[in-house]
Amino acid sequence: KNNVPTTIVVFGASGDLAKKKTFPALFHLFSQGLLPKRVSIVGYARTQMSSEEFHKRATSYFSPDASKDSVKEFLKICTYVSGKYDVDADFKALRSAIDDHERAENIDTDSERIHVYYMALPPSVFVDVAAQIKRNVYDDTCTNRLIIEKPFGHDLESSRKLSKDISALFDEAEVFRIDHYLGKEMVKNILSLRFANVFYEAVWNRHYISNIQITFKEPFGTEGRGGYFDEFGIIRDVMQNHLIQVLCIVAMNQPQSLSAEDVRDRKTEVLSRILPLQLEDTMLGQYVGTKDGSKPGYKDDKTVPKDSITPTFAQCVLHVDNDRWRGVPWVIKAGKALDEAKMLIRIQFKDMPNALFPKLARNELVIQVSPKEAVYIKTIVKEPGLSTSLAMSELDLTYKTRYHDVKIPDAYATLILDVLNGDHSNFVRSDELDEAWRIFTPLLHQIETEHVKPLPYEYGSKGPEGVYQFVENRTGYKRTGL
Ligand code: BG6
Repeated sequence: KNNVPTTIVVFGASGDLAKKKTFPALFHLFSQGLLPKRVSIVGYARTQMSSEEFHKRATSYFSPDASKDSVKEFLKICTYVSGKYDVDADFKALRSAIDDHERAENIDTDSERIHVYYMALPPSVFVDVAAQIKRNVYDDTCTNRLIIEKPFGHDLESSRKLSKDISALFDEAEVFRIDHYLGKEMVKNILSLRFANVFYEAVWNRHYISNIQITFKEPFGTEGRGGYFDEFGIIRDVMQNHLIQVLCIVAMNQPQSLSAEDVRDRKTEVLSRILPLQLEDTMLGQYVGTKDGSKPGYKDDKTVPKDSITPTFAQCVLHVDNDRWRGVPWVIKAGKALDEAKMLIRIQFKDMPNALFPKLARNELVIQVSPKEAVYIKTIVKEPGLSTSLAMSELDLTYKTRYHDVKIPDAYATLILDVLNGDHSNFVRSDELDEAWRIFTPLLHQIETEHVKPLPYEYGSKGPEGVYQFVENRTGYKRTGL
């Protein structure tokens, strides 16, 4: 554990992200004893309130089962400073508050210290706040780290502009771009599975793999977040970041080492081999209300324009043009208001050329990220008992069963800990981000300029009509029942 005196400033401390993710993750780390011994957390936002009032408000940020005593202890290390996002004097006051606190705590300002600036803010103020931090808060006698959250622009050009503006203020080594999927247990597990097991790496290529599907399904709609969502749509909201990040860890070649730069070099390399998405390889959908009226459609959300054609569902087939993957179709699929909550990676192997058992189903390796962490391999066995027929079964590593004593940490807690330790491995580098936008930008622009209409699907369904056929036609995917 890192014991350097640390100050964490959370900008946007009264906003949704801070409430749902940042503060609960900080509290989790605190209650596990994982924050540095001398740590102070400063909330910053426009709402005028005292630290005491902030404590009252923040109490509702934590789960009702959290120990009241731990919450009380945690809030003792939290203070609040109110200020605007464009007023120099307010940021100067923040800096004074940090300095005063360090003085009061007798922290030696000649020795190592870390200041973390967590921007839990809307994108419209990213650059202004980063500039304010640099001008009025940044302390060049200590280590400074800036955490930013997506959206990082809305296409290649705007993302480049954002990266340029941020890099004029902060070194890449100081910037931590969060993609919280990189903090999820099963996503972090992919590298270990692939490069620590001889039998995976041996078949991890076009000679053995038929197709790969990465699926993200949520059983709820935008529910009040429609205003934000409508500007972005499902492709920008989860595909360009979460799904493409997962894809590139599944697809990348083995890095030289586990160092952040080696890992990110390999990720960037494979991203650069992905061909830009094509409209004909894309299916778009938008949910409508249920027939019985119990669930609303996307456009029933009051914050969504009545004529919106923003997709809430998309599935795309893409290709990685390198020796390992040439010819293997990859499917990324994401949707809101579908039939279940699920995030998984399904790797389907090729048919077994076999005269002994002529009618065989395909093997699959499934890595389930959520809701239940699991790795399983669909494997054909002899039907147990006197029968000599074959049956489809699973080699099943469900984490709950195998590791029932281990509490899987929240992705945000894992990532904040990485920032405190200065480890960039699970954060997106600017060249990686650039490559990710390159893949999606032509498609996004085409959808927008041609006003491509999404297909309707009912809230709670599996997606638009033909959702499976679309994949089967383009990938040769075969269901695995025998
Ligand atoms: C966010 C998206 O980045 O990820 C949301 O903006 C989505 O729309 C969320 O619901 C999903 O995250 P998780 O961790 O709940 O799978």
